[in-house]
Amino acid sequence: MGTKAPPPINRGELSTDPTKDRLVPRHVAVVMDGNGRWAQARGKARIQGHRRGVETARQLTSLCGRAGIEYLTLFAFSSENWKRPPEEVGFLTRLLITSLENEISRLQENQIRLNVIGDFRPFGQKVEELIVRAHEQTFSNTAMTLTIALNYGGRWDLTEAVRKLVRACEERDITADDIDEATLSQALSTRNLPDPDLFIRTGGEIRLSNFLLWQLAYTELFFTDCLWPDFDEEQFEHALDAYRSRQRRFGQTGDQVTA
Ligand code: IPE
Ligand code: IPE
Ligand code: MG
Repeated sequence: MGTKAPPPINRGELSTDPTKDRLVPRHVAVVMDGNGRWAQARGKARIQGHRRGVETARQLTSLCGRAGIEYLTLFAFSSENWKRPPEEVGFLTRLLITSLENEISRLQENQIRLNVIGDFRPFGQKVEELIVRAHEQTFSNTAMTLTIALNYGGRWDLTEAVRKLVRACEERDITADDIDEATLSQALSTRNLPDPDLFIRTGGEIRLSNFLLWQLAYTELFFTDCLWPDFDEEQFEHALDAYRSRQRRFGQTGDQVTA
């Protein structure tokens, strides 16, 4: 997926100068963590937390649309989450199927393009078909790009990219000297997305858990103890306020940036 470049979002191109201070991040990437603990704290099964988590994801998508955020990327299932009990993985797979079936019309109404990163084939043929269909149906939408990371790992992404580039060298399409940061970025699953401006992780853990390792190099990081099902508009505002209060220097001095 994603070999063909999608039409540009109507509020700018990928080449926008990242050092230019923006009040609103262009791309927000989220590790939606804490569903299980949210449910357990209420005496419920972990899966109830995942169910509520989908609602939170839907709300955040709509909040981002209203805030003028162009790209929202949600970490829904990591390449390490297969280590969970099979019943939980099975439930997450079924939840993925119903979400894909139910949410497409809403995405269409709101002109949101759905993009998936990660190797989603192990979830089975049904998931694969739904993703391909959703991708085709929403491909021309231009209000926002919602990317769902499924069976995604930053190390997987980089490994795949290296494999792709080595193959291109073997086939003499490029030489080793042609490989630079831009070529590597273009070989990643996120080739059509700008790097995230703001990273949010809910659930209290201060780690990346193998999310967008390359792409987060200069992203502003925001960690909160709030559990994902409780991450509402007010919580999101806190994250946006934190983002606005940061000075993004990208290696320069503060004076250079404000000049
Ligand atoms: C995040 O919530 C959702 C997935 C990883 C699928 P968790 O299920 O990790 O919730 P906690 O961290 O156990 O509370
Ligand atoms: C990260 O959460 C992955 C997703 C939110 C999909 P985890 O709950 O899997 O992360 P760890 O295992 O605590 O690092
Ligand atoms: Mg967790």
